[in-house]
Amino acid sequence: MNLKGKDFLSLADFNKESLTYLLNLATRLKQDNRMGQTHHVLNNKTLVLIFSKPSLRTRVSFEVGIRQLGGNSIVLKQDEINLGVRETIADTARVLSRYADGVMIRTFDHNDVVEFAKWSDVPVINGLTDSSHPCQILADLLTIKETFGELENLKLAYIGDGNNVANSLLLGCSTMGMDISICCPEGYDPDTVYLNKAEEFADVSGSKIQVTNNPKEAMLNANVVYTDVWASMGQEAEAKKRKELFKPYQVNSELLSHASDDVIVLHCLPAHRGEEITEEVLEKYADVIFEQAENRLHAQKAIMASVM
Ligand code: CP
Ligand code: NVA
Repeated sequence: MNLKGKDFLSLADFNKESLTYLLNLATRLKQDNRMGQTHHVLNNKTLVLIFSKPSLRTRVSFEVGIRQLGGNSIVLKQDEINLGVRETIADTARVLSRYADGVMIRTFDHNDVVEFAKWSDVPVINGLTDSSHPCQILADLLTIKETFGELENLKLAYIGDGNNVANSLLLGCSTMGMDISICCPEGYDPDTVYLNKAEEFADVSGSKIQVTNNPKEAMLNANVVYTDVWASMGQEAEAKKRKELFKPYQVNSELLSHASDDVIVLHCLPAHRGEEITEEVLEKYADVIFEQAENRLHAQKAIMASVM
């Protein structure tokens, strides 16, 4: 599989074969890392990371990841380059292409990342936009595969806000043949563009997609229950209103009692205990949730090693 030079902007651009390739490579890199075996496939290569929003996992896992592959990184925060304001995105992309071997971007408008990639000569990786978070979902699929040994014949139930994570989960699950139920309060459903794309992928893979407002309905036969914050970065002003409205969508032990007996709980983190997830549930599933966080490192090493 040759993915050299390819952007990693959306899971819509990757079929089952290429995602399987990335997942297998991530597994191999994780095993090698555990055994202390080092790789130098990105020797002397530089990844520039642009952050218009905060981050713990994405920043550290990319920076550690590229170093483990022999390369290095430079972080540019919002106050330093003010993406799209200080100069055009096209100019920023053309300048960085002359210095770096890859660029990761975390920002608000997904179109800004697409515009950047249009002008960039080096691969661009989406580190989260308002509408998607593909690196997260690759790590999630890796975690699910490690836990259950397969992805097909499983059902994931996502409970909460129909946000970037929900949109990308729809694409990832439908491509890989997993059933997915998305359960949000009315008016907070995932983006129809992502939903329609996922339905196309589901026609090929055989996965079933459900969108519901009823959390108990979503739980039926769910092997994986997934949640995320009710107010994403950039939606802070809505946090109070959402806290009331989303209450029936909390992942707690009562809700989980309606899922499959072998259920695991995933959370992309950061978590807001007492809101989208209870302290009790988060701590009960802490092992797999922090494995999921670790898997960002291995999944992104697979992406970087493949595209850069
Ligand atoms: N899950 C995730 O992307 O975490 P950060 O926002 O800390 O990078
Ligand atoms: N939906 C969250 C994900 C954080 C990793 C946000 O965009 O803030």
